[in-house]
Amino acid sequence: MQYSANSLEHHWMPFTANREFKRSPRLVVKSEGVYLTDHKGGSVLDGSSGLFCAAAGHGRKEIAEAVFEQLKTNDYTAPFGLSHPGSFEFARRIAALTPEEINHVFFVNSGSEAIDTALKMAMAYHRARGEGQRTRFVSRERAYHGVNIGGTSLSGMVKNRETFTQVMPNVVCMRHTWLPEHRFIRGQPEHGAELAEDLQRFVENYGGSTIAACFVEPLAGSTGILVPPKGYLERLRQICDEQGILLVFDEVICGFGRLGTPFGAQAFGVTPDIMTMAKALTNGAQPMGAVAVKDEIYETITQAAPEKSVEFFHGYTYSGHPAACAAGIAALDIYEKEDLFQRAADMSEYFLDAVFSLRDLDLVTDIRGYGLIAGIDVAPTTAPGGRGAQVQEKLFWNGVHLKFTGDAGIMAPPLVSERSHIDEIVEKLRKTLKEVESQKAN
Ligand SMILES: Cc1ncc(COP(=O)(O)O)c(C=O)c1O
Repeated sequence: MQYSANSLEHHWMPFTANREFKRSPRLVVKSEGVYLTDHKGGSVLDGSSGLFCAAAGHGRKEIAEAVFEQLKTNDYTAPFGLSHPGSFEFARRIAALTPEEINHVFFVNSGSEAIDTALKMAMAYHRARGEGQRTRFVSRERAYHGVNIGGTSLSGMVKNRETFTQVMPNVVCMRHTWLPEHRFIRGQPEHGAELAEDLQRFVENYGGSTIAACFVEPLAGSTGILVPPKGYLERLRQICDEQGILLVFDEVICGFGRLGTPFGAQAFGVTPDIMTMAKALTNGAQPMGAVAVKDEIYETITQAAPEKSVEFFHGYTYSGHPAACAAGIAALDIYEKEDLFQRAADMSEYFLDAVFSLRDLDLVTDIRGYGLIAGIDVAPTTAPGGRGAQVQEKLFWNGVHLKFTGDAGIMAPPLVSERSHIDEIVEKLRKTLKEVESQKAN
């Protein structure tokens, strides 16, 4: 592909060092299965399923055909006071995967919108029950809940917040769940459940009756895969139950098989009140998110409004877009037909063995993992994130795409990956880390 500096100038890229990228671009021109093709013709193994989206691998014809058919038949339906059959069918299919009490699904277009929607649902639910005084939200350090104003407010990442000071008030953050003794532990750490007592302290400090909801990723994804300590999520659930606080699981990364189960809720055996999802919801082939809630939340909000009136004043022009629903249904068909959630569970041990084999490298300071996702920390330079960016770029040209957040690389190959693909990622990462190590030594 031909490009010039000018042809790249107009696109202001998200979460990207724009000036650096435009000097040294990395463009993907094709994606198929677990491989991408870069603009120079190189083959790149997608070690992070894009951004944890392509669970069934790229270029799935079933999804492309379903979207094409849908667009030819009915390309768009106004979603307010009207709908199309696909949105009901897709909601039914999602509800079949969520925990038993969670059966109502609201469609949005991204994970960030799912978070904003969940915040509003929590407010609407408490108001409908005459508890509108619950205006405080709890989140956690090292949380990533997207970038809308709601998600920015809940963010536990300083860079995502410090420029944007005028966000939602009344958000307090619990400590994150990583402890130094968790270094190189695979699966759930034995210790650390006591970190959930932070929520109890907020209850005691602010009054439980002022807290609307507690948002957590079951396994914190974007900031480097922090697996919840045993008993931690259970304790959050218990405190929420005692205090009437809604527990929200942000399942945007954990959902759809990444942890070897449909959702993180099932992996860790804790049922939230609200779940947000996106990414693998459509295998990443169409932008879409969703919020699934317990029946009681749906019933409470709808019953509180007068008959024949709108119950929840919220929604998007593209909520439940026909093409996105078609993509989602086709994606779920593939997940089911190929038993991909179970496949992820079966592959987990091999995957974690392979990733943890990198611990002998000097540059690797910690590894964590669960299911088919793992985080690898590389020793930082004086500028946080500098080493991560260096490893990421070198690794790309060595033939593997890996998402990095700061100095943490996140490995999450498509659930269809073979053992040989996992070997290829780990071998190329080892080679790249050694190259960076030797540069450091010189
Ligand atoms: C846990 C979590 N929540 C929310 C989001 C935001 O999703 P989106 O980028 O689709 O808005 C992400 C994205 O990575 C995420 O990992």
